[in-house]
Amino acid sequence: MAQAWAKDSWRARKAAQSPAYPDAAKLAAIETRLQSFPPLVFAGEARNLKARLAAAAEGRAFLLQGGDCAESFAEFHPDNIRDTFRVLLQMAVVLTFAAKLPVVKVGRMAGQFAKPRSSDTEIQDGVELPAYRGDNINGIAFEAAARTPDPNRLLEAYSQSAATLNLLRAFAQGGYADLHRVHRWMLGFVSRTQAGERYRDVADRIAEALDFMAACGVTSETVPEMRQTDFYTSHEALHLGYEQALTRVDSTSGDWYDCSAHMLWIGDRTRQPDGAHVEFLRGVSNPIGLKAGPSLDAPGLLRLIDALNPKNEPGRLTLICRMGVDKVQDKLPALVRAVAREGRSVVWSCDPMHGNTVKTASGYKTRGFDRILGEVRRFFAVHQAEGTHAGGIHVEMTGQDVTECIGGAQAIDESQLADRYHTHCDPRLNASQSIELAFLIAEMLKQQRHRAAARLAAAS
Ligand code: PEP
Ligand code: CO
Repeated sequence: MAQAWAKDSWRARKAAQSPAYPDAAKLAAIETRLQSFPPLVFAGEARNLKARLAAAAEGRAFLLQGGDCAESFAEFHPDNIRDTFRVLLQMAVVLTFAAKLPVVKVGRMAGQFAKPRSSDTEIQDGVELPAYRGDNINGIAFEAAARTPDPNRLLEAYSQSAATLNLLRAFAQGGYADLHRVHRWMLGFVSRTQAGERYRDVADRIAEALDFMAACGVTSETVPEMRQTDFYTSHEALHLGYEQALTRVDSTSGDWYDCSAHMLWIGDRTRQPDGAHVEFLRGVSNPIGLKAGPSLDAPGLLRLIDALNPKNEPGRLTLICRMGVDKVQDKLPALVRAVAREGRSVVWSCDPMHGNTVKTASGYKTRGFDRILGEVRRFFAVHQAEGTHAGGIHVEMTGQDVTECIGGAQAIDESQLADRYHTHCDPRLNASQSIELAFLIAEMLKQQRHRAAARLAAAS
């Protein structure tokens, strides 16, 4: 029998990656204030997302999850929100067209602040200070005052999340996400950029499909789905005090929901089965993600699935695999087989970012486009070999023209990283690299679709 859960039962467990606040009473007072703030999302929306992810688990939809590694107070600007949203929509159209499946769009946005770190402290020129843990906890400047965790930052993160979500909702429902408009951006990408030229053929075929539908009377005016979209938010549930404060009972179902975002995930460094993060997330009814890095073995994964999805509810659990291009073929098959053997329903999603980070000689953290693409290819190959479904992709990206990841058709090289390196944490794909990746994944999805159709034909 599982132990009773309460929204604060995690407090009796060890919480890895916790900041050392100098003033615990101040933190508690701010968490109490947050408890009275409005929820950012409504439980019914989280339930809708779960239903859509259930389809992804069964191969009837595909998950696209993406956004900043770390949102920051400095980069908070409507243009940044708009541009990331716009690139995600463009990626979604390309993937939808290839997969002939609905694409479930989830932003790493409107709450993705807290960061796990490999070391508690950072040393520069012989000076040791607490590591930067995300703008909701401390500041990135290498100064003692900035690096001291400050609970007031949680209030600012809440307010930025609320404003971001408000704008995202307006974009998603207010006409900005019109399919014809998204396609016009796509044509701009194709004609303006060298990267885009390679994909002119697909863009033309989408244009033909839209023209055909318009001729049949399917237009933005006649069909609401053409002019609006569903867009969901997600972040790593790392700061449990904040998450607890936004956890509320849903009056329609009587269940607990963490209303800071639609979907929350557990990071690779905080997935201890008896730790605080697993304890907290097992009790909320949102769809949740679990990062699966190379140190996770099949028995460990099954134990976590037992804790997080004991009723084997489809759409509840997304496994976000981040093995690294060199390890994915070695590590992933055992996990896929164990989950299939035990009949567990999960969405298999590929995070090709976090296992492929390297540091250049000049000290920049970067990721090579080829290695990112390589991990996705191998992820799809494993699922093909196992007869399972590659159900999603999880990327760190931005709508800005940054130079943080190397390669892609723009052929960004190491010497260019300094030009526009803006991330507060990990290197992100820029707009062009993100859309290019979507076109390349589209090819894989198309093959997956053809194989599924062939299997069906052979069976009938
Ligand atoms: C992240 O997604 O930004 C992250 C820290 O990932 P992981 O927990 O997989 O290292
Ligand atoms: Co990251």
